[in-house]
Amino acid sequence: MAPQDSSPAELIDQFGRRVDYIRLSITDRCDFRCVYCMGEDMTFLPREEVLTLEECERLVRVFVGLGVQKVRITGGEPLVRKNALWLFEQVGKLPGLRELVLTTNGSQLDHQALPLKEAGVSRINISLDSLDAERFRKITRVGDINKVLRGIDAAKAAGIARIRLNSVLMRGFNDDEAVALTQFAVDKGIDIAFIEEMPLGQVDHNRESSCVTSDETLGVLQQHFRLVSSAETTGGPARYWRIPDTETRVGFISPHSHNFCESCNRVRITCKGELFLCLGQEDVVDLMPLLREYPNDDAPIREAIVNAMKIKPKGHDFDLRRAEPAVVRFMSVTGG
Ligand code: 5AD
Ligand code: SF4
Repeated sequence: MAPQDSSPAELIDQFGRRVDYIRLSITDRCDFRCVYCMGEDMTFLPREEVLTLEECERLVRVFVGLGVQKVRITGGEPLVRKNALWLFEQVGKLPGLRELVLTTNGSQLDHQALPLKEAGVSRINISLDSLDAERFRKITRVGDINKVLRGIDAAKAAGIARIRLNSVLMRGFNDDEAVALTQFAVDKGIDIAFIEEMPLGQVDHNRESSCVTSDETLGVLQQHFRLVSSAETTGGPARYWRIPDTETRVGFISPHSHNFCESCNRVRITCKGELFLCLGQEDVVDLMPLLREYPNDDAPIREAIVNAMKIKPKGHDFDLRRAEPAVVRFMSVTGG
């Protein structure tokens, strides 16, 4: 047994923010190639540079021991990783964990939704940027919308308590679909969030001209739906509106127009075991060497995580007008 060290069972950063939420990317691979997320040709990491699922489980266990209550598994596409379900089952059993949630493109949900629910997944975010098969294909470059629609139905049928669609609207691609996507969410009795495109990684289009702001989308939706501002949060940066007499909440995630950094409660872990303290900054602590150097002693990892809180930045500084992406790593590496 490793000796217990005296690190606190809470992660508090230098600005007094309590970190109780981690997002873990378990693969940088994906079966889609969404235009806002990836370039046409992507080189993925060699397997030995990616955390094993056992290492993922160990990291999550250490974080939960440090007071983390919510874990989101992301990617790339987490469900394309072989045996991903094993990880969900292990994490779902950790004492102290309140919420196990997932971000997915939905392509594997038709057969995985039920076992995920049984493993303890309580909420799923599913990317859906268009309801038109051809456009969906254009945005994802390779995706089949019917698989995703079946996946959404399977998640509902499995009894996943909250399902949220994530939509990135881009001018010239799908900026006329805000109403249709929202109506789809209403018809399915699920939530939807509109995410402003963020400058993560180099892609093939100009992000400044493609980015549709949350305020613009809200304006369009208000002409079709009665939206009632809601104070509720789901522990994230989304601002929510309700549509009365429906099950649906409409969220807006707006890194550009509304700074959400002040109440940031999360850190991200890449599939390479790097602990990123902010989605939009480079501050990072590499946990992989510690995992591999101390296979039977969690104390050094715990200490590194506690110390990392001292360098969690105050906020991001995304700026779409910059020629270079704010952050060179793709969302698929860092996790959404
Ligand atoms: N900007 C905004 N959203 C993005 N996503 C992936 N890359 C980007 C980006 N550059 C979205 C995905 C997923 C969510 C986690 O983030 O569509 O739904
Ligand atoms: Fe895959 Fe999600 Fe990136 Fe699309 S946004 S390529 S589904 S990781």
